[in-house]
Amino acid sequence: MKEEVNYLRKKKKSLKKGSPFVTIIPATFNEKDNIAPLVEGIKKTMSNTPYDYEIIFADDSNDDTPQEIKKFVVKYPNLVRYWRAPGQGLSAAFISAFSQAKGKYIVCMDADLQHPPALIPKLLRKLDKGAEISIASRYIPGGSNEGLGKFWSFYGIYRRIVSIGMSYLTKILFVPIRKTTDPMTGFFAFRKDLIKDIKLEAKGFKILVEILMRSKPVNVKEVPLKFQPREHETSKATLKQGVNFFKHLKQLFFELPEAGRFFKFCLVGLSGVVINLGFLYLFVEFWLMQKTYAFALSIIISILTNYFFNSRFTYRDNRSSSRKESLRRLTYYYAFAFLTMFVTVVVYSILLNVFSLHYLLAGFLSIAFTTILNFVLVTKIIWKLPVEI
Ligand code: GDD
Ligand code: MN
Repeated sequence: MKEEVNYLRKKKKSLKKGSPFVTIIPATFNEKDNIAPLVEGIKKTMSNTPYDYEIIFADDSNDDTPQEIKKFVVKYPNLVRYWRAPGQGLSAAFISAFSQAKGKYIVCMDADLQHPPALIPKLLRKLDKGAEISIASRYIPGGSNEGLGKFWSFYGIYRRIVSIGMSYLTKILFVPIRKTTDPMTGFFAFRKDLIKDIKLEAKGFKILVEILMRSKPVNVKEVPLKFQPREHETSKATLKQGVNFFKHLKQLFFELPEAGRFFKFCLVGLSGVVINLGFLYLFVEFWLMQKTYAFALSIIISILTNYFFNSRFTYRDNRSSSRKESLRRLTYYYAFAFLTMFVTVVVYSILLNVFSLHYLLAGFLSIAFTTILNFVLVTKIIWKLPVEI
């Protein structure tokens, strides 16, 4: 803390004019009782820092909150701005306010005092030190998520399961999200540069997920957040937002080629299994083919369809530039597929005979292993894209 104060003092001296301007954006939906303490809290904290700043309220309220905010626009005209958001939810409110921000640094936060303003200078300091985005996390030492409700209450447990579960799911699916311990937080600061070339989409409640996925920052830093219990009003987190979050994930998954690439590859693999069995059935039942030949032929067909779907879906960010290249890739694809099948059998028999695993477990593990192996080979050698699992 002392170090912090010293740093800020030094900084204030060294940067008289050059200090980056900061835009602080609290989003509001019916928060009238929280406006005054929030504005005064931010003022108090920021007065000990070298930064000039503005506060833009990104507001969607349908009560007296706008009037309350406008009182402060009058009281502190150089400091407080009112921004009528489009009324399409929290992310949309932030995104629309970004376009109004004059700051080089932008801070997103809740307006309900669950995000203590005293943390803002710490977030900004990380940006000064080179971070592209700094995140207030409840899940690093010194942080806590008490604000999600009493731990032993039904509601508290429910909120924790949802919040932590969604975090994990998002991290398993999407590699850039692993840069933070708390993708669900709504309290963070970033350089405006970070989003200058990307188009943010307004889906959902989790603007941080959107920013991380589309901007892929390299330098991400965190500060611990003690998520405060709510004082006024209640949380607006609803089932609808949960559904919206899944829609948001789905949108990212299908829109960004690299998002969850391994899972795209697995989806295509599953389609291959279905196609394989479908043809097998067709050949045996209708063409009366010999069952072994039928199986061999349906394998060859499903490798072809896998290749086709992978090149149009999984790896569509590196399409073949000529027919020749496409044929070359297809040849490699077959080679790797047969190699993979061979390795599967070898691994299976090792697990079975050397490690004496149950045959079903051995089967599962060997398939899992070779799926990853095949993914690595295909991604790196055929499509020459970064391997991320
Ligand atoms: N402009 C606008 N539009 N603001 C909104 C909207 C909206 O549609 N919905 C909510 N807000 C504002 C609220 O007024 C509050 O300041 C902030 O956004 C967060 O809403 P809460 O209803 O307080 O959400 P919470 O406390 O459940 O959620 C908090 O925890 C999440 C992590 O578990 C927030 O910090 C979220 O940002 C965070 O993701
Ligand atoms: Mn809240």
